[in-house]
Amino acid sequence: MDPQTLQGKSVIVTGGASGIGGAITRLFVARGARVVVVDLQQEAGHALAAELGDAVVFLRGDVSDRAVADTAVATAVERFGSLDVLVNNASVSRQKPFEEQTDDDWNLAMDTGLYATRNFMLAALPELTKSGNASVINFGSGAGLNGQPNQASYAAAKEAIRGLSRVAANEWAPLDIRVNVVCPMALTAGVAKWAEARPEQYAQSAAAVPLGRFGDPDRDVAPIVAFLASDDAQYMTGQTVMADGGSVKLR
Ligand SMILES: NC(=O)c1ccc[n+]([C@@H]2O[C@H](COP(=O)([O-])OP(=O)(O)OC[C@H]3O[C@@H](n4cnc5c(N)ncnc54)[C@H](O)[C@@H]3O)[C@@H](O)[C@H]2O)c1
Repeated sequence: MDPQTLQGKSVIVTGGASGIGGAITRLFVARGARVVVVDLQQEAGHALAAELGDAVVFLRGDVSDRAVADTAVATAVERFGSLDVLVNNASVSRQKPFEEQTDDDWNLAMDTGLYATRNFMLAALPELTKSGNASVINFGSGAGLNGQPNQASYAAAKEAIRGLSRVAANEWAPLDIRVNVVCPMALTAGVAKWAEARPEQYAQSAAAVPLGRFGDPDRDVAPIVAFLASDDAQYMTGQTVMADGGSVKLR
């Protein structure tokens, strides 16, 4: 069997209706997975489910809500019989200088980033334990690694996710649950908004990518996430993988 296949895997993708999450949902289904998509965007979620058929169940919900994580896991088990892969992709934040960021701005970044990741991991644990080669893929950001200006709350949430992922990788390794982090760079609606608000920062970031372009969610990022979800990556855990055209080189 093609080791890259995701045949038979049952997956949750948060923020899976559009952007990088939408690309992940499409590629995973193309490689044989079945996906519970959790997203706030009702229209995009239903459209994706209609496009991809029985392989996708759309669950409208806010990832900050612990009950949504429990429902997503229950839905995966009810519809697909198991849960093998959790992709914690959704997150939102507001960009402004550190001293202007309010408690509300911090809560948004932490609730949709760090706490959503924690809640989905905890809700998924009992089912992932039964999988045999489970994979959790969390999302970090070059903004955290580089200290990108105007991203204090977001960078803090993303670096906290990396710390949590390393601890969980160690604690859950005996359960055959791998935990890795992807830091992507891809032109999505979220980034387009940022590019519009901060055109100089966007132009600078795109020009600085060694591979010479801002990534494409389908061609450049989703395949790296699919690799981490596949049995090909069975000896890989606790890692941060840069899907960013070479922008950041971790040592
Ligand atoms: N695009 C990039 O270049 C880039 C760079 C670094 C990190 N990231 C990270 O990659 C991930 C995906 O980024 P993206 O650019 O595709 O984002 P995006 O904003 O384009 O899409 C995010 C998706 O999550 C959904 N969503 C947002 N808030 C939600 C909530 N509270 N509950 C449920 N769903 C919610 C949105 O509806 C959307 O479908 C994020 O974690 C982001 O921080 C992206």
